[in-house]
Amino acid sequence: MRIGTLDLASNLFLSPLAGYTNLPMRQTIRELGGLGWATTDLVNARSLIERNPTAMKLVESGEGDRPLAIQLFGSVPSEMREAAAICEGLGAQSVDINMGCPVKKVTKIGGGSAMMTELEKTADLVRGMVEAVKIPVTAKMRLGWDAENITAPDLARALEGAGVAAVFIHGRTRAQGFSGSVNLAGIRAVVQAVKSIPVIGNGDVTTPEAARHMISETGCAGVSIGRGAFYDPWIFRRTEHLLSTGVLLPEPVFPERISVLRRHFERYCEFYGEARGARLFRKVAPWYARRFGPSRPFKQRILSIESRADFESVIAEYLAWRAAFCDASGELLPKFRPAPLAVDFSEGDAGVFARESIPVPRGPVETW
Ligand SMILES: Cc1cc2nc3c(=O)[nH]c(=O)nc-3n(C[C@H](O)[C@H](O)[C@H](O)COP(=O)(O)O)c2cc1C
Repeated sequence: MRIGTLDLASNLFLSPLAGYTNLPMRQTIRELGGLGWATTDLVNARSLIERNPTAMKLVESGEGDRPLAIQLFGSVPSEMREAAAICEGLGAQSVDINMGCPVKKVTKIGGGSAMMTELEKTADLVRGMVEAVKIPVTAKMRLGWDAENITAPDLARALEGAGVAAVFIHGRTRAQGFSGSVNLAGIRAVVQAVKSIPVIGNGDVTTPEAARHMISETGCAGVSIGRGAFYDPWIFRRTEHLLSTGVLLPEPVFPERISVLRRHFERYCEFYGEARGARLFRKVAPWYARRFGPSRPFKQRILSIESRADFESVIAEYLAWRAAFCDASGELLPKFRPAPLAVDFSEGDAGVFARESIPVPRGPVETW
């Protein structure tokens, strides 16, 4: 598929996840294959203009981290234009505009999901950004402010007129936060509302089959995956394989999980420095552990790592402890194997994903 003039290797996208989709995560996931496009965490346009060090860290890119979109939030047209031009100057392939964030800090300044309530104003802002840069500008939105105000189809059409190259649509309203179901019919309505730009569906995709289902039910051109990539960083490779061959690849074996975990951790240390990287990685490692089988001591001990040496000793202790649950060849005995990842939509209720629990990481972003 294409976005603007860019040809993508696949129609699978990594959704922005503030606090996680940093350079180390993007590089780690890209290396596993199947990912066509990744986006940075959201960045405040004004902070970028001010070259605030935190904002500059968020937009840092590196080897293999292409194609990359930088996601901006803000509501002042001149700032959004200037920030878009900075993204272009930094070498980003695209600028994405956050129109879905329900967090008060963002909506109270007219950014995030507040943009879905004022179609003309938003279209004007977007037009200005499109004119300010040569790279494609895209928009990420929810279905609307709440169930009574489903504005996404109209907004998507207006933004297509303003020149956006693609629309990402999370199939929930702002009011829903992360509760309730992803509404596939709502995504389909956005697909049908635009003339020719690609619409990328998003929400609750945790398996390759769920991605395939979203595409077939909505007609979306591609799928963007957020939390599903925490569970299964291999989801892009497995989904691409399923979509192109019809064959579902098995989940990776445990030693591969450990080796990718190690690479991800090492990148954290290189990117943030060892002490900060180790501390920040405490919230990442437990996601890997969800597919380890028995892992309680690992999850506890990893929460206090301060260094590379700590990390390695947690792994060594865990491997020794886990051996008791394995056969002679190192495979987990059947009764200790984690259940296969659930296909998270209900067969009986076309159009709606029956939401199984996909935890949302704790913290201020809980209501994303
Ligand atoms: C921890 C967390 C951080 C998020 N940060 C962002 C963000 O920076 N920008 C954005 O547009 N959406 C953000 N989202 C929303 C996701 O990109 C995505 O739309 C949502 O999680 C639904 O997709 P999923 O079910 O595949 O996770 C965030 C979600 C979570 C859980």
